[in-house]
Amino acid sequence: MTKLHPVPDTFAAHARIDRAQYETAYAESVKDPAAFWDRIGRRLDWITPYTQVKDVSYDARDLHIRWYYDGELNVSANCLDRHLAARGDKTAIIWEGDDPAESRRVSYRELHAEVCKAANLLTSLGIRKDDRVAIYLPMIPEAAVAMLACTRIGAIHTIVFAGFSPDSLASRIADSQCKLVITADEGLRGKKKVPLKANVDEALKRPNTNSVETVLVVRRTGGAIDMQVPRDRWWHALLADQPATHAPVACEAEHPLFILYTSGSTGTPKGVLHTTGGYLVYASFTHEAVFDLREDDVYWCTADIGWVTGHSYLIYGPLANGATTVMFEGVPNFPDSSRFWQVVDKHKVTLFYTAPTAIRALMREGEDPVRKTSRASLRLLGSVGEPINPEAWEWYYRVVGDSRCPIVDTWWQTETGGILITPLPGATDLKPGSATLPFFGITPQIVDANGAVLEGAAEGNLVLTDSWPGQMRTVYGDHQRFIDTYFRTYPGTYFTGDGARRDEDGYYWITGRVDDVINVSGHRLGTAEVESALVAHPQVAEAAVVGCPHDIKGQGIYAYVTLKTGVEPTDALRKELVAWVRKEIGPIATPDHLQWAPGLPKTRSGKIMRRILRKIAENQPDALGDTSTLADPSVVANLVNERLVR
Ligand code: WTA
Repeated sequence: MTKLHPVPDTFAAHARIDRAQYETAYAESVKDPAAFWDRIGRRLDWITPYTQVKDVSYDARDLHIRWYYDGELNVSANCLDRHLAARGDKTAIIWEGDDPAESRRVSYRELHAEVCKAANLLTSLGIRKDDRVAIYLPMIPEAAVAMLACTRIGAIHTIVFAGFSPDSLASRIADSQCKLVITADEGLRGKKKVPLKANVDEALKRPNTNSVETVLVVRRTGGAIDMQVPRDRWWHALLADQPATHAPVACEAEHPLFILYTSGSTGTPKGVLHTTGGYLVYASFTHEAVFDLREDDVYWCTADIGWVTGHSYLIYGPLANGATTVMFEGVPNFPDSSRFWQVVDKHKVTLFYTAPTAIRALMREGEDPVRKTSRASLRLLGSVGEPINPEAWEWYYRVVGDSRCPIVDTWWQTETGGILITPLPGATDLKPGSATLPFFGITPQIVDANGAVLEGAAEGNLVLTDSWPGQMRTVYGDHQRFIDTYFRTYPGTYFTGDGARRDEDGYYWITGRVDDVINVSGHRLGTAEVESALVAHPQVAEAAVVGCPHDIKGQGIYAYVTLKTGVEPTDALRKELVAWVRKEIGPIATPDHLQWAPGLPKTRSGKIMRRILRKIAENQPDALGDTSTLADPSVVANLVNERLVR
C-alpha cells in the first residue's frame, strides 16, 4: 500500500502553482499548445520576436519539429546580460571545490565579463557560428564560461563527461568534427587526479580527429602536462588579453545549441541535437515551475555538466532564471559521507536535486552523517536519472528533508531536453516511487507491444503523442537514425524507450528501459557498447551484456564472454577484461560480473536471446520461459549452473 504525502500547507499557501492552477493550465496547454507556448516563450529576451510558435509533424514520412522558428535570440544574453541591471551583484555560481577549504562565488557581472572575454578568445582562434567545440572539463566555473561563450558566438558545444576514456572522447570528436577542444590539465575528485590533458593527447592520435586545430587548457591542478605548440594553448594566458565586452550573436530559434552524445540500444552513442529557442524556453520554465523557484533560493543540482541534467538544470535553466546555482567539483563521500549536507549548511542551500544512486549509497552509511548537520535551509528535494525505490524515497524524505520537504521525482531524458513527468510541489500529492503527473503540454500514452493504446490503469510502453519546445531535433549527422529510433516503433508518437504503469489516479510509475539500454547509477549505457568493447579484445570471440539488479547503482553490468578456441578462462584474464572495458569506455562501464560462456543462447537465425541471459543474471533460473526455439538448448544449463549471482 503506497503512502500518500499530501502537499504541505506551507507549499500550498505560497506555491507558484497550486493544484487548481495546474489543472487549468494543463488543460489549456494540451488543448491549444500553440497559444500556451506562445505565452510561455515570452519569458525570454528575443532579438527578433517570434510570430510563429509551433510546426510539428510526427509522421515518419514528413518528420519535422520547429518551435518559435521565425524568432532570433542569444542564449548567453538570456543567461547573463539581461540580469545585469537588477542582479549584477547577485551570485550566479557558488563553486564548491573538491577540497572543502576551497569555494568561490561568481556574480552575474563577473560571469558576464568572463564569458565576453572567452567569446572574444574563441573568435580570435577562428571559431565561428556553427563550428563545433568539444568541452572536456571538470566541474569548475570555466566549464560554465566555456559553454556560455560558445552560445554567445553561436558555436555548437559538445560536452564529453570528464570520466570518459580517450577512445570515447575521440569518437565524439570524430563524429562532430570539432575544431577546438577545451580541457584542463587535470581534474580532481576525492583527491584523485584525472589526467584530462593526457587523455586529450591520446584521443587526438585516433583516426578522424584532425579537425581539431586548437586545444585550450585550463590550469586546475598545476600538474605536469605535455604542451604541444602551436596546437595547445593556455586558457588563462590568452583570456587575459581579451576585452570584457562582446556583442552577442543573433541566433535563429532553430540554430543548433549543443550536441550531447547518449547511448541507445544499438551501435555507437548518438549525437542528440538541441536547438536554441525552444530548449531555453523549456529548460527555464520547467526549472522555475518544478523547483518553485524564488529570487533568494540557493539551488544545487549535483549532476555533472557531462550529462543532460548538468546542461539543463545546473547551467541553462538556473542562469536563464537569474538563480544562484551551486557547482560541486567533488564526490559525495569525500572527505566523508556528510559532505553533501555540510555543503548544504555552508551555502544555505534551499533546493537540492540529486540522483537515487547517491541517496542509496548514503543511506547505507546510516543516519548519523546526515543527522549531525542542520539542513534547516532546505525546502525542496529532487530526484532524477532512474526510478527511485520507495525505501530510498522515504529515507530521503524523512532523514534528509526532516519530513518537511516535498520531493520532486522528475522523469525525463537527454532527448527531451527537460523534465516531462513530475510533481509540482505546491500542486501534487506525492506517492513515493512515482514521477506522478505530466508537466504542461506533455501528453503521455501507454501502449502495448503492438501499439494499441491502453486506457485507465495500465502498464506498457511509454510514448508521447505531441511535441514540446525542449524536444531534440535530430541525431547529429544522421536524421534517418532519429526517425528510425524514435518515430517508427509506434507511428505518430515519440517512443521513449521506457516502460511505465499508470495507476487509478492517473499517476505514472516509470518501470525502466524496455530496450537494450541499461541505467547504471543514473548513467545510460548501451549493452552494445560494452559488447563491442569486449569483442575488441584479442582473446574474446563473442560477448553478450545485460543489466542486473544492483543495490546501490540501480542496475549493474553483467557480461557473458565466450573466449576464442584454445584460450584458458583464468581469473587473471577475467580481471584483464574488466580493466579493458574500463579503459575502452570509462570507469562507469566497468562490468560488475563477468561469466565465462562456452556458448550463448541463440535462435536458429543466430540472434542472442537476451531475455534468457537477463533472467540468469537476475538469479531467476526458474523463470527462463520458452527455450524451445534455441538452436542449442543445452548451453542454457551450463550458464545457469555457473551463474555468478545467487
Ligand atoms: C531514466 C536523464 C525513472 C529513464 C535525465 C530514462 C528515470 C533515462 C527518471 C534517461 C525518473 C530518468 N524515474 N526513470 N525520475 N529520470 N530516468 O538520457 O529510463 O541520461 O529513459 O537522462 O533515465 O536517461 P538520460
